[in-house]
Amino acid sequence: MEPAAAGAVEPWSPEPDGTPPGQPEAGSRSDHPEVSYVLRVNGVDRPVAGAWIGESLLYVLRERLGLAGAKDGCAQGECGACSVQVDGRLVAACLVPAATAAGSEIRTVEGLGADGAPSDVQRALAATPVQCGFCLPGIAMTVHDLLEGNHAPTELETRQALCGNLCRCTGYRGVLDAVRTVVDERAAAAARAAAEAERDGGPGSRIPHQAGPPAGGTL
Ligand code: FES
Ligand code: FES
Repeated sequence: MEPAAAGAVEPWSPEPDGTPPGQPEAGSRSDHPEVSYVLRVNGVDRPVAGAWIGESLLYVLRERLGLAGAKDGCAQGECGACSVQVDGRLVAACLVPAATAAGSEIRTVEGLGADGAPSDVQRALAATPVQCGFCLPGIAMTVHDLLEGNHAPTELETRQALCGNLCRCTGYRGVLDAVRTVVDERAAAAARAAAEAERDGGPGSRIPHQAGPPAGGTL
């Protein structure tokens, strides 16, 4: 084979023993302690046995637990494609050693919906025109995280929340519109629920009307 030109990127190939790049070689495992632990992912305990202690949460989710929703875009915390929540906090799974997440509640994009149906955020994002869609799982995690702490973000707040998610082929207009759609739908649903509770004699309707002070005097 011709040697690669200076600066050229060599095609990926496994190590001679089949070990993927970035993983300890089979012969050096004694230098890289293996551990077993349990990750709680989307409400389910998932045992991980005999894992190299340095494996990232992203690697373990994808390669050991079969949860491929979080994407491996850069493996260095810059693209947001691997975003997950750990104990309610949005993190780049590629930067978190998986063993340190044992005992935490991990939520991935697979856990955003309920009863097999996608969440409202996922539906809204799926309705936007996209090209490759590689960034969308990470964006869905970010939008959920945003709306959990801010029920009605401004466009600027949404843009700021998305600043860690790189989309290199479609752009962000559709995502911003999707967030607006979700916010409006949730507000409309809440208003409908309040109106129905009022009509059905809910707690709000039982609060007696308090008369105001008479004209020209106080009660
Ligand atoms: S793969 Fe983790 S931030 Fe890019
Ligand atoms: S749609 Fe391709 S990276 Fe966002």
